[in-house]
Amino acid sequence: MRFRILMIDKATVDKILDAANIVDVVSDFVTLKRRGQNYVGLCPFHNDNHPSFYVSPAKGICKCFSCGKGGSAVNFIMEHEQMTYPEALRYLAKKFNIEIHEKELTDEERAAQTERESMLLINEFALQFFEDQLHNTTAGQDIGMTYFRERAFNDESIKNFHLGYSPEDRSALFRAAVKAGYNKKLLFDTGLCIDDNRGGGYDRFRGRVMFPIFNIAGKVIGFGGRTLKKGDPAKYMNSPESIIYNKRNELYGLFQAKREIIKQDKCFIVEGYADVIQMHQAGFQNVIASSGTALTEGHIHKIHRFTSNVTELFDGDAAGIHAALRGVDLLLHNGMNIKVLLLPEPEDPDSFARSHSHSEIKQYIDDNETDFIRFKTRVLLKDTQNDPIKRAAAITDIVNSIAVIPDEITRAVYAKECATTLGIDEETILSQIQKDIFKKRQEDWKQEQRGKAAGSGGTQPSPAPQEPAPQEPATPHRVEALRQERATSTLHSCEEDVIRYIAKYGMCYLCETTYDDGSTQPTTVVEYIKNELEVDNISFSNPLFDKIFKISLSYVSSFYTALADFQSSIQQDRQNMLKEGSEHIMANADGTPESIEDQERQLEAKVAQTLQARVDEFRKSYLEKRLCSDPDDDVRNLSLDLVSEKHQLSKIHTQYATIVSEYDRLLTLIPESLYNWKNAIVQLEFQSLQEKLKTASPEEQEDLLRRQQELNVMRRELSKLTGERVVNPIL
Ligand code: UTP
Ligand code: MN
Repeated sequence: MRFRILMIDKATVDKILDAANIVDVVSDFVTLKRRGQNYVGLCPFHNDNHPSFYVSPAKGICKCFSCGKGGSAVNFIMEHEQMTYPEALRYLAKKFNIEIHEKELTDEERAAQTERESMLLINEFALQFFEDQLHNTTAGQDIGMTYFRERAFNDESIKNFHLGYSPEDRSALFRAAVKAGYNKKLLFDTGLCIDDNRGGGYDRFRGRVMFPIFNIAGKVIGFGGRTLKKGDPAKYMNSPESIIYNKRNELYGLFQAKREIIKQDKCFIVEGYADVIQMHQAGFQNVIASSGTALTEGHIHKIHRFTSNVTELFDGDAAGIHAALRGVDLLLHNGMNIKVLLLPEPEDPDSFARSHSHSEIKQYIDDNETDFIRFKTRVLLKDTQNDPIKRAAAITDIVNSIAVIPDEITRAVYAKECATTLGIDEETILSQIQKDIFKKRQEDWKQEQRGKAAGSGGTQPSPAPQEPAPQEPATPHRVEALRQERATSTLHSCEEDVIRYIAKYGMCYLCETTYDDGSTQPTTVVEYIKNELEVDNISFSNPLFDKIFKISLSYVSSFYTALADFQSSIQQDRQNMLKEGSEHIMANADGTPESIEDQERQLEAKVAQTLQARVDEFRKSYLEKRLCSDPDDDVRNLSLDLVSEKHQLSKIHTQYATIVSEYDRLLTLIPESLYNWKNAIVQLEFQSLQEKLKTASPEEQEDLLRRQQELNVMRRELSKLTGERVVNPIL
């Protein structure tokens, strides 16, 4: 195994992105058929019956219109091969024969890198050592293998999970590693061995069967070793925390399970190593373990990369039920769909999987898997039928769980259902949820303020709050609140329109701009928008939009260089096309010079048009490709959404109408979107001004009214441009 982490320089990344033909990339995994300008095939990310996976060579992206997965060539490889961003780049570089230039690392980076690499290397050495001990020594066979056989682990599982055996010998691994030339310090840093402070060391996992722990990329980051002695206080011993092993973030079995999790769009969580292995062996490969600890935010983010659907398996006893109720709010809070599955007492997943067939297990899951909120409702209400106080407490508890769900619609569905189950008015539940959410927001806000105070390093006991605390929307002000909400969401969609034009057409030519010094410059969409925003001192309120905007701007100068190169590279094509065309004209000429001149003029126009179309295509794809392959996940995913709506991937042609494309109307659409945005900003300020006026002192009122006058002028001017009517509210 080789461990090389490359820092690829930006120019090389650009080269890779330009070379990576999306059709070639996808074709290695999916059979594609041509359909018009695009290609289609069966989606590799879900069980697809009809081809719903589209590949657009012009845009350099692919997308499944059923499950939504896809993206640029980089995204596709990351998703399909479960690679990280740099890994995917390396894969593409290799495929398209692009030499990779490594960025020079700083000494610090190099040291950190080599330390990590060396630790991974020695873990790899240990893994092979333990496997070798299990398979090729008498003790390994007699003790380790016998144990695995008793537990009914088959050969395939032992191989797939790289199980091993660590001998009783005090320092077998230590000696082997030192002999192989490994640094002792690495053995101590990874926790494989313990320093005896006399120049030697002894093995941590003596006389245990070994369960290596892999990260998502399949590197060994740690081990769990199970004792074989009855009464050993430490049944499992695990590698200590290190720079390569952060317990709170790792899930056992994820490397082996990830493909199936994606395929099933679902993941089962169990507690232990043996549970995972036995479930895999029974044909359920989408099973992972939290290794006996409560799920953390870090775990959830890892799972969320693959699916939002999680079923937790618990023992059916009281402890299991108790465990099921704990920690799940964290999953709900992260927008996961959680189900709970209680196993019949006294089974755990290990014993259950061992004693039942695949179809029996499947049937049991289908019959008993319960939505978490429903499960909680059932459990909590069971013992409280005749105790109104307990019952009220239970209801509050259930409502609390619903309130942490981020999606409003899901919340509403649960509220409705619980109203029915609990025999309570739906409104009551909804208003309780609203109160909960408000309370949570206020706590978050306070926390944030505290964070700010601490962060500023100030010694003042309590700095004045920089922002107003969130206000509970009291009923009489509900109308105002709604109006404000609507204005905010209008603002958001205005910003979204503008950022979408940037992502899709950022480097397209829009117009000539005349600057103060009288010079005139051809201007791209993104430059035009930048100028417009600067004039009015406006910026995106959405931080992600702002990030995409800034990234886009940072590409402008390299774009112009690339454009110049592209234009000179097509000059040769121009010559060839003209030459060929002329020859054709001469060969078919009827002898009159006028006709030849006429035809040559037509030829030139046609060649110019063809080349212009190629330049347009170059401009269109330049930024799109880069945004959709950005290393930042959020930037990449949003950019993909912005550029790949269904109707835009395939051009619509009808027999009866020529549809003027968005691209042809940019000069109208973009200024319009900016006016709309400004209008929304003014509107928002206008409304908050109205609110302030209600409670302002007479002196304050004067200022506010002056500002209101200004805003009114702006609104009127903008309305002339956007064609909207201004209705002044009656004061
Ligand atoms: P369990 O005690 O339920 O063990 O702990 P198990 O998986 O059923 O083990 P077997 O079947 O007796 O071999 C569940 C998980 O908690 C972690 C391990 O990851 C284990 O799989 N654990 C447990 C430890 O890390 N240390 C321990 O001492 C015990
Ligand atoms: Mn067990």
